[in-house]
Amino acid sequence: MTPVEQASGGAGAIVDVVLSQKGGVGKSTIAVNLAAVIGENTRPNEADEDAPVVAAGIDPQGSMEKWADKVDEDTLPFDYVSTRGDNSVIPELKKDPLVRRIIVDCPGFMDVDPAAERSRDPLGHGAAADALRAVLDVADRAIVPINPEWLAYDPTEYTIERILRPRGIPFLVAVNRWDPRDGREDLDKLEAWLDEHGYPRAPQPIRKYKIHTNAAEKGLVVTRYAESGTALRAREDFYKLAIALDGLQVRH
Ligand SMILES: Nc1ncnc2c1ncn2[C@@H]1O[C@H](COP(=O)(O)OP(=O)(O)OP(=O)(O)O)[C@@H](O)[C@H]1O
Ligand SMILES: [Mg+2]
Repeated sequence: MTPVEQASGGAGAIVDVVLSQKGGVGKSTIAVNLAAVIGENTRPNEADEDAPVVAAGIDPQGSMEKWADKVDEDTLPFDYVSTRGDNSVIPELKKDPLVRRIIVDCPGFMDVDPAAERSRDPLGHGAAADALRAVLDVADRAIVPINPEWLAYDPTEYTIERILRPRGIPFLVAVNRWDPRDGREDLDKLEAWLDEHGYPRAPQPIRKYKIHTNAAEKGLVVTRYAESGTALRAREDFYKLAIALDGLQVRH
């Protein structure tokens, strides 16, 4: 058993949700590429053909869905599942003894009720909110992507304080799309803000590379980028995030 499996008592797959109220921060990119690097390092049980790592999309309009349409699934080290409005898919998958990890790509949730009291769930009503709630009910951990720009601070705080903490879901903030050419100023500011708030963060940011931007269109994941220095660095970022995630306890 890995430390993570021991922490979960070995019962069921671990469900990691990639979540932020803010759109476009890299939820789909992180979900797919985490599944790829974890999948490359997770052997199937015995001779079973199904991959023990699943990337799951709960948003039929989502970019992950579009990416999945392009990709040749047989060559992937993980399975892709789209719930298509069936909120029992992920809870059932979690019980599947052949599945070890489920990484869920969540849509941005814009239709929150801004007037909801702090003690109330602000997710509101509707199919998207119900899908999100169903996933959060079985989530063991969350990854909250954030970009190094001040506009991203508030939705991150909201996601953590209103959605994750009330549910007791352990989380890790992953700084994404940091451009090394911009220098460390904005990154340092963001990391200081996260540390001040006591928000655990992955030690290394995910760097901004153009190859990520074109990957979905080409049906590629980080483990399948054409060899280059950039491809290596891009891959390294996701391996480091996977390791940081391994150090995060699962929900009790
Ligand atoms: N590290 C990165 N380097 C370069 N481009 C990135 C990186 N991360 C994400 N992107 C690009 O930014 C855009 C938004 O990323 P993505 O679709 O993963 O975000 P999202 O949070 O899932 O968005 P949505 O809320 O719309 O679902 C995409 O074009 C993606 O390719
Ligand atoms: Mg997305």
